[in-house]
Amino acid sequence: MIQQLEELKTKAFQELDKIPDARELESWRVRYLGKKSSLTSILRSLATLPVEERKSVGARANQVKTELESKLQEKEQALREAQFISGTQKEILDITLPGRPLPAGRLHPITQTLNEIFEIFASMGFQIAEGPDVEWDYYNFEALNIPAEHPSRDTMSTCWVEPKSESGDYNMLLRTHTTAVTARVIEKMKPPIRVIEPGRVYRYEATDATHIPMFYQIDGLAVDKGITLADLKGTLYEFARRFFGEERKVRFRCDFFPFVEPGVEMAIECLNCNGKGCRLCGYSGWIEILGAGMTHPEVLRRGSIDPDEYSSFAFGIGIERLPMLRYGIDDIRLFYGNDLRFLRQF
Ligand code: DAH
Repeated sequence: MIQQLEELKTKAFQELDKIPDARELESWRVRYLGKKSSLTSILRSLATLPVEERKSVGARANQVKTELESKLQEKEQALREAQFISGTQKEILDITLPGRPLPAGRLHPITQTLNEIFEIFASMGFQIAEGPDVEWDYYNFEALNIPAEHPSRDTMSTCWVEPKSESGDYNMLLRTHTTAVTARVIEKMKPPIRVIEPGRVYRYEATDATHIPMFYQIDGLAVDKGITLADLKGTLYEFARRFFGEERKVRFRCDFFPFVEPGVEMAIECLNCNGKGCRLCGYSGWIEILGAGMTHPEVLRRGSIDPDEYSSFAFGIGIERLPMLRYGIDDIRLFYGNDLRFLRQF
């Protein structure tokens, strides 16, 4: 039996040496020190042995047991230290480690651009007004001097919305410009008015690097006594200066929009070539960024504002173009592709 004990001990120590983790250590413990282990059954059988043998075997068996137990403890400690260093085990809690940083979200570049524009106009006394994306034909077209057969409807391919009216025509649509909000504001608010009107607009168009069927615009409107084209120019000049930088040149030229008279377009000196002429600006040195004008008297009258008493300027800006110009983004679809590699750059 002594012989058996010695063999058992040698085998147990050999196995213990090779144990790599806490799980196997536990099964080693069960095997050699557990209730069903041969050591335990030897200890149990002591009572059946003759007295002489009982003494020697008993002493040796208890010794082996203590040795195994202390080796087990050593091994436990060694494993714990090894795990601590490699840091791979979840059961180790190192309270001195710095916390894991929470990934912070960010605003979409279009939202950032909108916020920046809001701030510029808010500082000039403009408030924000909003209207519905699904709009009546009346506010999108009729109220803005664009009657049913007017050719300028063709420049805005429209997504019409069911149902048709009794006459068989559509009278609801996805608004094609935020100028529709201007038509609503003129009806609702009393002068003096200074608003900007941000929102999504929709055009029934094929998608490519510069066209998408949904994009953002901001329209602006000021109605008061004695407003002139000089106020329009001053306001938009200030906007361009604040948004694109002090040194950026601005150009106004005549243009036509049915709801303003006179109408203008504003261009800024090309950000890419600084006015020298390049592919981006079509070798003209200028890039158009918005349409504007003095609100047409008919449009004011429809909203019960007397054009003999009040005058008004209005403007409309496409939003996506602005960060595209500023950062040299050459494909508008990138804004709506949800590619984090793109979005994380802003
Ligand atoms: N609504 C026009 C468009 O989408 C832009 C525009 C031009 C808006 C002149 C205005 C304006 O308010 O005065 O093309």
